[in-house]
Parts: sequence; structure tokens; C-alpha cells
Amino acid sequence: MSAKEKPSRESFEKLPDALAIIMDGNGRWAEERGLPRKAGHEAGAESVRAVTRECARLGLTELTLYAFSTENWKRPGEEVGFLMDLLERYLVQERKEIMENAIVFRAIGELEALPPSVRTELDRTREMSRKNGGMVLRLALSYGSRKEILRAALEIAELARKDPAAVESLGEDDLRRFLYEPEMRDPDLLVRTAGEMRLSNFLLWQASYSELHVTDVCWPDFREAELHAALRAYGERVRRFGGLLSDEGR
Ligand code: IPE
Ligand code: IPE
Ligand code: MG
Repeated sequence: MSAKEKPSRESFEKLPDALAIIMDGNGRWAEERGLPRKAGHEAGAESVRAVTRECARLGLTELTLYAFSTENWKRPGEEVGFLMDLLERYLVQERKEIMENAIVFRAIGELEALPPSVRTELDRTREMSRKNGGMVLRLALSYGSRKEILRAALEIAELARKDPAAVESLGEDDLRRFLYEPEMRDPDLLVRTAGEMRLSNFLLWQASYSELHVTDVCWPDFREAELHAALRAYGERVRRFGGLLSDEGR
């Protein structure tokens, strides 16, 4: 597709500022083709490239991708090892693209649990892209929402011990200060590929009012056309946040 044929930002009813995606179905994609699961993960990395580029082009402010959960450590060592190698390769190869698109690269999760070589590349990419002015691309790595909330609760308990007055007035928005990235915006739209109707421990706090979009398409097949379909579906949503629309109160 040439740049000319791509839909403009204005052609969408409305676009989310912050998009989050549970990238699922790499294994099933491979299995359907009689390929090893690894091939699905490799193809999934291509989707990460395509979707990131298109989200940046459309001017989204944040894209958060669930790449590896705290529960995914339970998978066979060989698959985990492959995913870590793939992540390291991705981080090195994508730096040029990240810089060319002025993307700010971030990561959330129990990053200490990642292999040192992956952490080194993560730090490099984060540092290199820190001053860019474009979209934030955030990978959730060794991420689990319950762990994130537990950490926050423990930090608040520690603060309460040192300074009881400081926690008395804590409001909902103050809790963000104790999450992995206080400046992260709540996703407006949360997409899950491969059909499963669950959150799998992803952004339980942040997604309280996110619009949900689940597609049966497996992640390696989720490219520009699928992204556009998800964004168009979002455009049709009516967001009330518990209230009423101006014409509903009559
Ligand atoms: C998503 O694909 C990638 C990760 C969770 C790391 P899966 O590997 O979960 O693929 P399925 O769900 O087995 O098809
Ligand atoms: C969710 O997918 C985690 C990621 C996409 C990284 P899973 O494949 O791990 O989720 P479950 O096991 O089907 O809930
Ligand atoms: Mg899965």
C-alpha cells in the first residue's frame, strides 16, 4: 500500500489517544499452518512493526503492547528462551525505525526478571529514544497487573508507616504514582486478538473504562487493515463513564 492510499487521521470518526493490545494467538497461527510455535512468534514481531508504524502515522499518543506476562514464565524453558532472544533481536533491529518515527520507547513489568542481555538492550533503547517527541511505544514485559497493584499497595503501606498523614488524603489518581509508570494514560481502547474474552492479568486498574475490542484474528495476521477495523469500531462507541449523554437526561 502506498502512503497515498492510507487512510488519513481525519477519515476516522474518532481515534483513541491511548491504545493497548493483548497480542495473542501466535501459537495457534503457527499450528494452523503446520509450523512450530516459534514461527508464530517471528511473524508476530512483524505485526508489532506494522502496527507501531501505523499507530505513529495516525498520531496516537500511546501504544502499550502486552508482550510477555508474569504467567508466561510457566511456559517450557525453550519457548521462554526463544521469546527472550526474539525480544533482544527486536530491540536492536527496531532502534532505527523507533528513531526515524520519533517514538519514545518504554517498558513496564518486573523487568529485573528479564535476562541481563535483554535488560541492557531495553535500557539502551529507552535511553536513546527518551527525548523523542512522538508516540510512546510501551512494551509490557514480565508484566502482571496483580503484581503491579501489590507493589503499589506495599509502597503505600511503607509510606503510611513513615508518614501516616501522607496517605490519609490519597485519592484514586494518587494511586497512579505507585504504578510502574505514573505518567501512563489509561487506554481508551483495549484490543485482544485471537478471540479469547479475558484480560489475562493486563492493566486491571488502567482499563477500568477502556473500550474493549476482541477480534478472532491471530496476532501475526493483525496488520494495518485489522488495526483500521479496530479503530473504526472504536469510532462507533458511545462512552458514558457512568453518566448520561447530554440528550439522555431528558
Ligand atoms: C501470544 O501468543 C504471545 C505470548 C503470549 C508471548 P501465544 O503464544 O499465547 O499464542 P497461543 O495463544 O498459544 O495461540
Ligand atoms: C496473554 O496471552 C499474555 C500476552 C499476550 C503476553 P496468554 O496466551 O498468556 O493468555 P492466556 O493464557 O490465554 O490467558
Ligand atoms: Mg495465548
